[in-house]
Amino acid sequence: MLEIIKQYHQEIKDIHLQNIDELEHYRVKYLSKKGIISGLFEKFRAASAEEKRSIGKPLNELKKEAEEIHLHFKEIFDAQKNIDFKTFNDLSLPGEGFETGARHPISLVRKQIIDIFHGLGFVIAEGPEIEDDWHNFSALNFPEEHPARDMQDTFFIEKKNGKDDIALRTHTSSVQVRLMQNGKPPFRAIMPGRVYRNETISARAHCFFHQVEGMYVDKQVSFADLKQTLYFFVQEMFGADTKVRFRASYFPFTEPSAEMDISCTICKGKGCNLCKNSGWVEILGCGMIDPNVLKNCGIDSETYTGFAFGMGIERITNLKYQIKDLRLFSENDIRFLKQFNHEIV
Ligand code: PHE
Repeated sequence: MLEIIKQYHQEIKDIHLQNIDELEHYRVKYLSKKGIISGLFEKFRAASAEEKRSIGKPLNELKKEAEEIHLHFKEIFDAQKNIDFKTFNDLSLPGEGFETGARHPISLVRKQIIDIFHGLGFVIAEGPEIEDDWHNFSALNFPEEHPARDMQDTFFIEKKNGKDDIALRTHTSSVQVRLMQNGKPPFRAIMPGRVYRNETISARAHCFFHQVEGMYVDKQVSFADLKQTLYFFVQEMFGADTKVRFRASYFPFTEPSAEMDISCTICKGKGCNLCKNSGWVEILGCGMIDPNVLKNCGIDSETYTGFAFGMGIERITNLKYQIKDLRLFSENDIRFLKQFNHEIV
């Protein structure tokens, strides 16, 4: 009898049941009242005391194993049964739509700006958002204690002795300094990045915004190069019929300095609310890099000249998409962001 028990043990050990019918067949064959294992127990009861001693344990093990196998496959098939296959039946039902993410308008416009300058051979340069005073101000010809520093309301992180003060950068001009200090001319680069200024948050101002600044330093770079570069940018960004004008201005790091306006993107120069009836809107600051800045960064200002410019990405985005409230850019309101789903660049 021991041999028979071993045989059945072997038989069920690696059994693999495929479906619920096979499971039932297995149950009837081994575990039902008239099944193999019950039959063996009947024989066991009739066996001699000596035989009982040798087959009792293996017989119980066979029963236990047979039950465990049954339970194992039952659990698998029960779980499958709970999936409601009915819901999959009607393949003609329309599918459930799902929403895709989209680029943020600031990212869209940043990419457009970068692409335009990339076409002119400008590379991208990046630098830290936490800067020391020297890179953000002193190297850029902001005299110490000079009111020019108040032009950009600075968030100071650590006040030390002036030039080592630590602040959140107020413009990405600091990256220009880093680039010039660490390399050799010619330089032709743009610096996209986030900048911080201590302003009261309103529809027209925020405590942080995004800039793309640019610079070109080489032998014989002139104001004419600056004008033509920016004119090309405006035509690519806002359309070939957009006009530009330069107004004299002041920045400590450029001489001469200018601000550039474009003909109003809404009224095309006729006069409207956006341009306060002037027909023009300001988009950027620019100028020829002050020789002092070149010297501060270790560039020979007798041999090299350069131009620089800087614009706010929010401003360009406002003009392109007529967004009237700056706060929308950082509130993550899905209704606002969704409007840019179709914009592909
Ligand atoms: N750094 C200036 C600003 O943030 C912009 C600028 C850059 C102006 C380069 C002139 C030249 O306002």
